[in-house]
Amino acid sequence: MNKAATDNSHFELKVKLRLDHLPDMDPVNVLDLFSGDGLIWTEVKQRVSKQINTLRIDIKPDKKGLYLKGDNLKFLQSLNLDEFDCIDVDAYGVPYKQLKEILSRNYKGIIFITYIQSVFGKLPKKMLMDLNYTAEMIRKVPTLFDRNGLLKLNNWLSLYGIKKVKRFSIERKHYSVINY
Ligand SMILES: C[S@@+](CC[C@H](N)C(=O)[O-])C[C@H]1O[C@@H](n2cnc3c(N)ncnc32)[C@H](O)[C@@H]1O
Repeated sequence: MNKAATDNSHFELKVKLRLDHLPDMDPVNVLDLFSGDGLIWTEVKQRVSKQINTLRIDIKPDKKGLYLKGDNLKFLQSLNLDEFDCIDVDAYGVPYKQLKEILSRNYKGIIFITYIQSVFGKLPKKMLMDLNYTAEMIRKVPTLFDRNGLLKLNNWLSLYGIKKVKRFSIERKHYSVINY
């Protein structure tokens, strides 16, 4: 499998999720936190007539096109999130830190999330602690607390008042949209 394919398994599904939940406005301003080569939003732009402006970020320096290079967490702290109608969090793993930053700032736009918990994948300790599991409990039986990652994500989102999440799940990959 080539790199672009690895970055974008279930590409059509990801594109469709975004098309189905594009806000009803023109232009639409998108903050693309895990932009890669920007393939998803390039495709979305081709399928709609309205203008879509993307501010792209990626940590790797060798991606296609114009984007901010570096850790999205660093950029997130200095950006005014109210300027964006959608935030795209198309991560490889569990984007706990990014979601925490976005939600704790009371962001009210649309959030697209890719959440992948690998077979032996650990859940972020801080996320578990937000859910009132203690460091001691997690240390004693770590495997117990890494189970049911999706349920734990849902419980964690509900701490921010988010009860309804639209989602497609394929094995351990979960593609979600939070649309207030
Ligand atoms: C699943 S791919 C994204 C595919 C992309 N959304 C597209 O449309 O082609 C994940 C990307 O996130 C980037 N990445 C991982 N951690 C990051 C971080 N902390 N800050 C910024 N980019 C990151 C990786 O370099 C990779 O290109």
